[in-house]
Amino acid sequence: MDATSSTSSVPFSTLIRNASHEQHTEAENSTFMSDMLGGRLGVDAYRRYTEQLWFVYRALEDADSAARLAGDPVAGPFVQPELDRTAALERDLAHLAGPGWRAEITPLPATAAYAERVAHCARTWPGGYVAHHYTRYLGDLSGGQIIRGTAEKTWGFERKGDGVRFYVFDAIGNPAAFKRGYRELLDALPLDDLEKQRVVDECKRAFALNTAVFRELGEEFGGGASGPLSA
Ligand code: HEM
Repeated sequence: MDATSSTSSVPFSTLIRNASHEQHTEAENSTFMSDMLGGRLGVDAYRRYTEQLWFVYRALEDADSAARLAGDPVAGPFVQPELDRTAALERDLAHLAGPGWRAEITPLPATAAYAERVAHCARTWPGGYVAHHYTRYLGDLSGGQIIRGTAEKTWGFERKGDGVRFYVFDAIGNPAAFKRGYRELLDALPLDDLEKQRVVDECKRAFALNTAVFRELGEEFGGGASGPLSA
């Protein structure tokens, strides 16, 4: 059954979740993620991954876009400063790569394409921006917590400290309640079925963009192996 073709009686939060389920599994099981979370990669891989995130969040949290989107009926309710990750990423990068981190980091081609797509949506299409917002922040609030725990154990970061601050949402006291509220915002989106479908498609694109970044990271750190997990 194709969940994305369901009628508007299905809550949009369910629709978008179901539609991206398969790609979520793919991203989760990508060689790079599996190797990184399986303790088979060094902290340099984690650092490189964190660098890539910085380029993506810089696009998601661009101040001009945020100011504009805050007043938009579709994207506005999603623009919530307590989600912002850029400052946390910058602290992590200073810890991981030293004070001169900014001059040293480069986006992988897949990351540049991802950040450019986010920036394009932020500038021109609030619904598309919501798709990218959902894909990143709801993921960070969910699976991100697993990644944090593993990173702390594997590379010895202080619990919720420098190196893993990206995964710590200090301003969100109750993540489960926050996610419930977030799904309510998704369900209340003032969009017709056609536009909802376009947002779902953009979410799938967002997942594909993430997977492409993992593929390139896998090529850099996995000895070129980017196929299915064999271990
Ligand atoms: C190893 C990596 C990952 C793990 C272990 C992981 C794990 C999880 C878990 C446990 C949930 C909660 C599911 C629930 O609430 O029932 C979740 C949700 C989610 N994840 Fe991931 N995830 C990973 C990677 C990713 C990636 C790369 C993305 C996209 C960039 C992503 C996006 C999401 C989204 C959007 C949700 C919310 C789904 C919803 O409830 O609507 N995840 N993840």
